[in-house]
Amino acid sequence: MIPIARPQMGDDEKQRVWEAMAAGSLAQGPRVKEFEESFAALVGAAHGVATSSGTTALHLALLGYGVGDGDEVITVPFTFIASANSIVYTGARPVFVDVDESDFTMDPAQVEAAITPRTRAIMPVSLYGQPAQMDELTDIAERHGLAVVEDAAQAHGAAIGERRSGTWGAGAFSFYPTKNMTTGEGGIITTDDAELAGRVRLLREHGMKVRYHHEIIGYNFRMTDIGAAIGLAQLPKLAAANERRQAIAARYDAELRGVITPRVRPGVTHVYHQYTIRVARRDEFAARLAERGVGSGIYYPIPVHRQKPFIALGYGDRSYPVTDRLTEQVLSVPVHPSLSEDEVSTVIGAVNETAAELA
Ligand SMILES: Cc1ncc(COP(=O)(O)O)c(C=O)c1O
Repeated sequence: MIPIARPQMGDDEKQRVWEAMAAGSLAQGPRVKEFEESFAALVGAAHGVATSSGTTALHLALLGYGVGDGDEVITVPFTFIASANSIVYTGARPVFVDVDESDFTMDPAQVEAAITPRTRAIMPVSLYGQPAQMDELTDIAERHGLAVVEDAAQAHGAAIGERRSGTWGAGAFSFYPTKNMTTGEGGIITTDDAELAGRVRLLREHGMKVRYHHEIIGYNFRMTDIGAAIGLAQLPKLAAANERRQAIAARYDAELRGVITPRVRPGVTHVYHQYTIRVARRDEFAARLAERGVGSGIYYPIPVHRQKPFIALGYGDRSYPVTDRLTEQVLSVPVHPSLSEDEVSTVIGAVNETAAELA
């Protein structure tokens, strides 16, 4: 079976991790600092604050902007639940707006109507590796005095023109093993805002600048030096890995038949964390791909507002028609950089045969 993801661990990762272990540097230490600086530089942001996960990066970014009890944050229901959960953790309420059917990201045309006097921030999600419509959304945020937190968990190296994901307001990335690059578990907040970076640093470490002198109630959301060691080995390979993903996606774009392939907005660099097609009879389609030796993934089968905890919070009867349609139709096929050309051909053959059978 060709798997939907295949994390790559090589000699560089082993060497870096061994060096961290040999130095006795297991918790947050010099490798985290080096990783923060290197990742921020790659993104083109002035500051990077590494965290224990993408979820804690989102949570801290919101807290850093002062989001809390009684506030509202606008996000999308077509995402991993962590986007909305991070809002709930702060005491704020997620307000969902639907996604744009053309690119699966937040529809800017719907945002203004969702803004109320309680709105504090907008959290677009750069889903599957394509940046959300950040310029339009940032314009709206600026007009209304709102913070922007980009959920860039799937968008390492993605860009609009020359400007990379993670440089609008605050960006929150995930380094979970299946992402375009990994630290094991881990995340990072990137921003040009020095004050925000200072606040999230403080929050990440129990409100402590001087050891055991606590200025605020904070958290332990630190990345480990072991994780950062893996990340430092992965970083120099990201550009080539993304290019390989793009090359595979280009073959899929050219050779897949009978399915809807992803649309990339002009001028946008899509880094294909996922290559996601739309098909009718999706679950049967996935089962037939599996019979042909091709793994696939559904991101996501249930929109966030229809997940149990959000039904309990009163969101269950809302309707977001594009999201509802997409959750029934999306299917991601393997696009990871370690696929051989033969494996890519196998995926293409399997998708095309299945599409013909189910037409
Ligand atoms: C869109 C999105 N947001 C947030 C997260 C949370 O990241 P993590 O799993 O590192 O906490 C993920 C990754 O799983 C994600 O895909």
